[in-house]
Amino acid sequence: MPMEQDPYDLVAYPSFPHPYTHPDHLAAMAILHGLSPAPVEHCRVLEIGCNEGANLIPMAYAAPRSEFVGFDLAGLPVARGKERISELGLRNARIFEGNLLDIGAELGQFDYIIAHGFYSWVPEPAREGLLALCGKLLTPDGVAFVSYNALPGGHLRKMIREMMLYRVKGTEDPEQRVSEGVGFLHFLLETRPEGDAYRLLIEKHLKSMENRSPRFVYHDELGEIYHLVYFIEFMEHARRYGLQYLNEAVLPPVNDPCYRREMRAALESAAGGDILKQEQMLDFARMRGYRETLLCRADRSVRRDFPVEDLRRLLLASPARSTPGEAPGAKAFSLPDGSKMESNLPGVIALLEALEAVWPRSLSLDEIEPRLAGTGFALDDDRANLLMRMVVTKIVELHAWRAPVAGEVSARPRASACARQEARTRAHATTLLHSNVALDDPVVRGFLKLLDGTRDRNALLDAMKAEFPAIPPEALEEGIEPGLGFFHRAGLLEA
Ligand SMILES: C[S@@+](CC[C@H](N)C(=O)[O-])C[C@H]1O[C@@H](n2cnc3c(N)ncnc32)[C@H](O)[C@@H]1O
Repeated sequence: MPMEQDPYDLVAYPSFPHPYTHPDHLAAMAILHGLSPAPVEHCRVLEIGCNEGANLIPMAYAAPRSEFVGFDLAGLPVARGKERISELGLRNARIFEGNLLDIGAELGQFDYIIAHGFYSWVPEPAREGLLALCGKLLTPDGVAFVSYNALPGGHLRKMIREMMLYRVKGTEDPEQRVSEGVGFLHFLLETRPEGDAYRLLIEKHLKSMENRSPRFVYHDELGEIYHLVYFIEFMEHARRYGLQYLNEAVLPPVNDPCYRREMRAALESAAGGDILKQEQMLDFARMRGYRETLLCRADRSVRRDFPVEDLRRLLLASPARSTPGEAPGAKAFSLPDGSKMESNLPGVIALLEALEAVWPRSLSLDEIEPRLAGTGFALDDDRANLLMRMVVTKIVELHAWRAPVAGEVSARPRASACARQEARTRAHATTLLHSNVALDDPVVRGFLKLLDGTRDRNALLDAMKAEFPAIPPEALEEGIEPGLGFFHRAGLLEA
């Protein structure tokens, strides 16, 4: 009988780096909750189901003294990942073809374990094996990141998936499966009146699919396995392997029901101080369909009050840019996504201006405090609350590691070799902050490829003229400084 081809060999999965899986973020969340995780500069990271290493390879490049190991069942993506690693000459990254069910203690212990897009898409033995492996391989203060499709929101996505699967039954060709499935949803949509709740639901799912590559839809929506789980059940599963809830990878956004006073009272009366029950109740209010849960060992003591002494162990950064505020003496701080915060507190203004001046680098509180002299800003419990509010609104980021980003644009700017490699082969580049920059524009992509640290401004302009003869030279010249500024702020330029 012919062997069935692995679906991830048949159709390449469009993997991306995921900022919240980075050990810097995992360490920051662990420190915030009172743990003492391994420093990002010297740690061991394991990625389970790493596919072609799109997440793992940029991490290994940016933290050369840490060790990064990944494995995946599918041979072709692993081969592509290995080729990238050898081309970059990374000695601290290893990707191999392997089945989770065959992996054991021989890999050693890991400070950070990542399983993104795995738990909900694999059969039951592999789900069991995943949490067993985390229980076995996690160091005492280690952190595991596990994402999964959650209930109750997952019911809706499952309904959409099942309708698509019904329509594409018997269709083998991957492209045809996606186009027939998506086409069927469009058909259903048209049968419903404007504003109808069912129509809105289909519309929402269609939009999310159309924003992603059809290859994602092939695997994520139309794949064979689609396991849904309530948070409380997932945590019970993790508990059986000696793991407990640290937190979600991302703190709830400002509009989350958990911050509403009436919700807090309802949670207390229904769930008392049981954080797991509270989170499950909140998932009903959120209609949550997806989670990225951080786990740590059950014997660790987890704090949830964000004490000042733990904030002191972290670094702060802010991508916000300041402009004069509307109120007298106030300043507005705006994020790239357009969200804005205004303050007239001299301490807050001085803090954010200090961070603005060094972005994309970060500062410790010890480094910031001299700049706050005379503002009356001291990090007491109230100020720590204020700081956490700025973290929740994403005006301030918490870090546990200084990414190797350039402090300024140098005379001969050098973009990370990993990003330049991506510019040759992919439609995005990974920054040293582990975020994604789209490279759809061929001029942006071409410019990035030239930033290897050997060219000054004149040489860059000459190279751009040779590369893009159809573009007027003045336009190219005008683009050099803003282009470099953009790459610098994105965290693509190396120290
Ligand atoms: C949805 S993809 C996610 C890939 C990657 N983590 C990401 O987020 O881009 C799931 C991956 O798990 C791999 N996988 C499935 N079962 C596995 C197993 N038993 N052992 C190792 N890898 C497995 C698949 O080959 C596939 O690459």
